[in-house]
Amino acid sequence: MLKKLFGKKKANNDYENNSDLLETIDRDKMPRHVAIIMDGNGRWAKEKGMLRSAGHTAGIKALKRVLKTAVNINLEALTVYAFSTENWKRPTAEVDFLMKLFSEYLEKELDEMDQENVHINFIGRTDAFSPYLQSQMEDAKKRTANNTGVKFTVAVNYGGQDEIVRAIQTLANEVKENRLSPEEISPQILEKHLDTADLPAVDLVIRTSGDMRLSNFLIWQTAYAEFWFTETNWPDFTEADMIEAIVDYSKRDRRFGGLSKRNEEK
Ligand code: FPP
Repeated sequence: MLKKLFGKKKANNDYENNSDLLETIDRDKMPRHVAIIMDGNGRWAKEKGMLRSAGHTAGIKALKRVLKTAVNINLEALTVYAFSTENWKRPTAEVDFLMKLFSEYLEKELDEMDQENVHINFIGRTDAFSPYLQSQMEDAKKRTANNTGVKFTVAVNYGGQDEIVRAIQTLANEVKENRLSPEEISPQILEKHLDTADLPAVDLVIRTSGDMRLSNFLIWQTAYAEFWFTETNWPDFTEADMIEAIVDYSKRDRRFGGLSKRNEEK
């Protein structure tokens, strides 16, 4: 099945090997939702004596590879951390460059994403962006709203704590207007008010570039997620790396606070 998916794409790169690797995954143990912290663009550029902006440009190429992989393996949901609420602290020139890159990315890639049946969404405080960028995001969402393929979510001006606070503010208003009682508030109700309300919980978090932290990314949604870290800087992250992470995930024993199947049988 997976071999067929890969096989029909093309044969002139290492898909053959990657599909062989994928064959080792038990399809029932595929993650539904993979979230990626794309870190290390700056370090990649520095190692090469290049400007940080070159690292971000190369990071876009890695993002395209990874989305393609998600499409090829029929992943249900992929969420990437493109810009955090803390990233505004970077020099203005870098922030402006990232915005330009984001805008160009949407302009150049939307047609292909649409053809690939990708359903795009954005999470975070998107209202902080320029009116033009906001209109591009709206257009991308509208154009791909009926697509049934991978749910591709880009976190922009996103912070997990900020997202939870916004959800609580909405709930507090509902309580104030007597549409909800405090006792009715449950994890399920809160989840419905998060930016990710339409997505399954995160199964696998991938972080590149060696740091092992969550950095305020999807802090609620990753409560039971598995983590996979690599020293590889984001611009060097390949399809094979993504598949390796998924194969590793498929071998893990997820207990969600209960007992493993092995122990249950004892
Ligand atoms: C981390 O590298 C990356 C970012 C803060 C931005 C992620 C952006 C991209 C992958 C490209 C742009 C994509 C979109 C959709 C706008 P870093 O700069 O923190 O690297 P460093 O930790 O090595 O300095």
